[in-house]
Formats: sequence, C-alpha cells, structure tokens
Amino acid sequence: MKRLILILSLLGLLGCVSSDDEGQGFGNLFDSPEGTVLTEEEHPDGWGRSDCFFCHPIYEIHRVDRTGTGVLPLKEIQKFVEEEGLDSCPLCHGDNGVIE
Ligand code: HEC
Ligand code: HEC
Repeated sequence: MKRLILILSLLGLLGCVSSDDEGQGFGNLFDSPEGTVLTEEEHPDGWGRSDCFFCHPIYEIHRVDRTGTGVLPLKEIQKFVEEEGLDSCPLCHGDNGVIE
C-alpha cells in the first residue's frame, strides 16, 4: 500500500487530474482491506488469470475516481497503463494469484 501511494503521488506530479466518461466500476477500492491489491475473496472470477484485458478492456478502466477525494491521477494511470500494458497491473493490483 505504501508503494502504491508513492507511485500515485509520483504520477500525480506529472499533470492535473480530470476524467469524463464512466467506465467499469466496482466501488472505492480503497475501502477493502488490501486497498487496490486484489485478493482471492474480492476477485473470485478473475483470480489466477493474467489476461486482465479479457474482462477489463483497457478503455473501460481507470475512468472514474471512486475514492470520493478526487486525488487519483487518472490521466497518468491511463497513460502509464497504455504504455506498459499488462506488465503494469501487478504494480498497483498485486499478482492476482498468478504464478510466474
Ligand atoms: C474472467 C474475467 C476476469 C479476469 C481475467 C480478470 N478480472 Fe478483474 N474482475 C472481474 C470481475 C467479475 C470483477 C468484479 C468483482 C468480482 O465479482 O470478482 C473484477 C474486479 C476487479 C477489480 C476491482 C476489485 C475490487 O476491489 O472490487 C480490479 C482492480 C481487477 N478486477 C483487476 C484485474 C486485474 C489486474 C486482472 C489481471 C491480472 C484481472 N482483473 C483479471 C473479472 C476478471
Ligand atoms: C499506477 C497504479 C495502477 C496501475 C498500473 C493499474 N491500476 Fe487499475 N486501478 C488503480 C486504482 C488507484 C484504481 C481505483 C480507482 C478508483 O477506485 O476510483 C484502479 C481500478 C481498477 C479497476 C476497477 C474499475 C475501475 O476502473 O475503477 C480495474 C478493473 C483495474 N483497475 C484493472 C487494472 C488492470 C487490468 C491494469 C493493468 C493493465 C491496471 N488496473 C493497472 C491503479 C492502477
């Protein structure tokens, strides 16, 4: 969680935050015990899979800040994810039970 906050604040320095269209949403991820890191309990359908885009198309995720704070650097997350693709996901969401 500490590392995530670090990454987010670094990304936040790169630009300002805004987002328009709604995408996928499962509520405020920071409400769950592990934050944005996935656990088997909260991710039963996707657990152990590395083909994230199959269920979460890239242009439908990270569209809305559901923390209620407006501090998420969504534009920077989107750009980072576009550049790094599936390799980026574990940085913020953990390994999702995938054994390399
Ligand atoms: C087979 C479909 C499927 C795959 C593949 C999948 N997911 Fe999911 N994911 C879901 C579903 C369905 C939900 C909604 C929560 C639930 O009921 O499991 C979800 C929810 C999430 C959430 C929100 C979790 C929360 O706390 O509510 C995140 C983040 C996420 N997925 C990331 C990923 C990442 C990263 C990968 C790849 C490593 C991935 N998913 C692969 C189906 C999938
Ligand atoms: C730099 C950190 C970061 C990276 C990298 C990242 N995410 Fe996320 N992701 C987040 C944050 C933060 C949220 C919570 C958004 C919210 O609650 O408003 C989120 C939310 C999600 C959600 C829930 C739906 C939504 O849009 O809020 C899904 C699904 C998801 N991410 C999938 C992925 C997948 C798949 C990848 C890799 C391709 C990925 N994420 C890479 C930080 C990241």
